Amino acid sequence: MAAFSRELGIDLGTFNTQIAEGSQILVQEPTIVAIVTNEMKLVEYGTTALGMLGRVPEAIEVVRPLRNGVIAEYELTEKFLSILIKKVTGPTIFFRPRIIISVPYGITSVERRAVQEAGLGAGSREVNWIPQPLAAAFGVDLPINTPTGNMIISLGGGTTQAAVISMTGIVSAETSQVAGLKLDDAICAYVRKKYGLIIAQPTAESLKIRIGAALPSEEEKTMEIQGQDQVTGLPRPASLTTNEIVEALQAPLEEIAATAKRVLEKTPPELISDIIDRGVALCGGTALLKGVDKYLTVALGIPAYIVDNPVTCTVEGTAKAFDILDLILRSQQS
Ligand SMILES: Nc1ncnc2c1ncn2[C@@H]1O[C@H](COP(=O)(O)OP(=O)(O)OP(=O)(O)O)[C@@H](O)[C@H]1O
Ligand SMILES: [Mg+2]
Repeated sequence: MAAFSRELGIDLGTFNTQIAEGSQILVQEPTIVAIVTNEMKLVEYGTTALGMLGRVPEAIEVVRPLRNGVIAEYELTEKFLSILIKKVTGPTIFFRPRIIISVPYGITSVERRAVQEAGLGAGSREVNWIPQPLAAAFGVDLPINTPTGNMIISLGGGTTQAAVISMTGIVSAETSQVAGLKLDDAICAYVRKKYGLIIAQPTAESLKIRIGAALPSEEEKTMEIQGQDQVTGLPRPASLTTNEIVEALQAPLEEIAATAKRVLEKTPPELISDIIDRGVALCGGTALLKGVDKYLTVALGIPAYIVDNPVTCTVEGTAKAFDILDLILRSQQS
């Protein structure tokens, strides 16, 4: 019977896309494709395409079809989703799945419709949407169906979404485009300014992940990188330390904290006192940045903690949302 009524939850992220059914995660792939440039023909996707980034001849282009949480390349997004959905359902879809897909809080109805149409074009029978912070909170099992204040900050690659949720609805929220990729950009700018070296985003990202932190650390790590001298154009190595990355990341981290503060300012005092008692839940890949919980605890003056399933909670929440689909649809009509 399951084949007749597959219900898939999808987290279509700027950097990573996941599909879940019930409590099982069935697909996890980077949101990236390789195409033959002049034909727009997709040749690789996901992990394989990611491995091709910066290493392909002119005839091939490696593209991230989403930017800052929204679809930038419609056809590529549809093809990419179609491949991932077929990985779950098999090549011939007799019984097309119903899906619930998470979308960033606050996107326009046109941007949201593009996601729904991409889902339909990719072979789904029905496409419903849920704001990402609500899906994430649901996936974390916060008591969001009670009249209490629950705050969650989803620190992704292309978006930071901070939200206060009560009675299964968003009370106050904000989305910012300062997230993981902007942290990488800040590292590129720092290395260029301090060492006169040009480095690409993947190198900046490894510095962030391997030795980076949000707060100065006594346990300093170092990492050797190869950059391109901005004057001579020739390769040159440099050695970076944890505290240099901390310094590079301060400006974008302040912007992330400012987004969360604006949400708190818009939240009624009764709910604020619940949030002070329970703390602020952090999720998304950027929640894995060392010390980001301590950084936000200090910046917000409210304890912030990393959830147990920071990277999968959104997709888990989308799959669970089938249980409350009526409620979600009703709230979207009002
Ligand atoms: N250990 C780590 N430390 C710091 N950042 C990390 C770590 N691991 C992953 N990241 C960052 O997490 C980001 C990806 O997170 P995630 O998969 O939640 O994003 P996404 O859902 O695709 O994006 P969005 O929700 O913004 O559309 C990337 O910027 C990546 O560099
Ligand atoms: Mg995300």
